[in-house]
Amino acid sequence: MEKLLVNAGPIAHMASDKALVGHIDDSILTFEPGFGILIGNGIIRKIEDSDDLQSEYSHLDTIDLEGRAVIPGLIDSHTHLIWSGDRSKEVGWRQKGYSYKEIAEMGGGISHTVNSTKGASESKLAQLGLTRMKQALHYGTTHMEAKSGYGLSTESELKLLKVADSLNVNTELPSLDITWLGAHSAPEGLSYEEYTDLIITEQLPRIVEQGFARSADVFCEPGWFSVEQSERILKESRSLGLELRMHIDEFDDGGGGNLAAELSVSTADHAHYTNSETRSKMSDSNVNTGFLPATPYSMGSDYPPFTECMDNKWAWTIATDFNPNCRTLSLPFVASILVQRNDISPITALAACTVNSAKTTVHPSGLKQGSVAEGYIANLNILDSVNWEAWCLQPGISPFYSTMINGNVIYH
Ligand code: NIG
Ligand code: FE
Repeated sequence: MEKLLVNAGPIAHMASDKALVGHIDDSILTFEPGFGILIGNGIIRKIEDSDDLQSEYSHLDTIDLEGRAVIPGLIDSHTHLIWSGDRSKEVGWRQKGYSYKEIAEMGGGISHTVNSTKGASESKLAQLGLTRMKQALHYGTTHMEAKSGYGLSTESELKLLKVADSLNVNTELPSLDITWLGAHSAPEGLSYEEYTDLIITEQLPRIVEQGFARSADVFCEPGWFSVEQSERILKESRSLGLELRMHIDEFDDGGGGNLAAELSVSTADHAHYTNSETRSKMSDSNVNTGFLPATPYSMGSDYPPFTECMDNKWAWTIATDFNPNCRTLSLPFVASILVQRNDISPITALAACTVNSAKTTVHPSGLKQGSVAEGYIANLNILDSVNWEAWCLQPGISPFYSTMINGNVIYH
């Protein structure tokens, strides 16, 4: 099945073999208005002068973009997609000055969601996941990472991964890259050391046998999994064939970044309070820094040092971190935090959730994604604007007129 998009406005194509780092120049990543895009079997086949394509392919289904700008489909490289429950009450505790750790100790936090998720059937969890994937698509996300982590027992972690896998089938919805995060918190009744032993001897082998998770992740943070416990879990995961990701330094500089560098994990996320020396080591070891700006936004804290990463040419991404404590699925909103609150350019923010996140968060088909370029999967966003910069300047509403996913057009 072939189709043609004609009369594109400017295209922020983001074509690059490597992650984009440093202070990024718009001009080499954008095309002027006047191009057309030929799509065949869900793949971008040609990007050429619109009139030329139109005369050569006049027999095809044609969509006139009427000068609207185009950007790649967005890739959300960090979400906690599957859980049930509601922790809205925590806002009152937070506003009384209780910290995230104190709220967890008072019965809120991860264990609260673990309990509400335990009571939910597979079909209820699948329904929740599906609704969230539709919301993400409304905001231009065409591919997303999805973690387990609200099960914590072997059976419930297997259940969450099974639900995620069951959702990874619809070519008109975002695809998923599935991560096992059994090491999110210790379940009630077990110490972190005891749970780490249980993970290694019982849970992890079952997860690998099930085969739905591509990667393993650990919440390595003072007060949760220690660097040593994280190391044991990650090394064992790697030896059983999983890719590695980490949550580090969300609240404190706890040393997780050194482990990330030592193991050369794919991405170390949050990385809010990581010191500069460790950031540099991470970069030398090819570790991406996954900033999650909607989390400090939700918690009312400051933002991590994006500019330092740019000055030092360290690779970084942005993602939503969608979870019960940070309930956004909108990458345009997350980018607005960067652009409208942190002086980051729209092209840099776009690189952080397209070409750069494609490096850490692969598509299940194995196809290339994250750029509007020949040979890439036909995942792209048509803006309701003649300027591509509009993608991150409308927090709270979708800036998109339509989204093409696997070559299918979804109107918003
Ligand atoms: O990445 N901080 C660890 N995990 C999640 C939040 C989990 C929760 O509060 O439910 C995160 O922000
Ligand atoms: Fe997270």
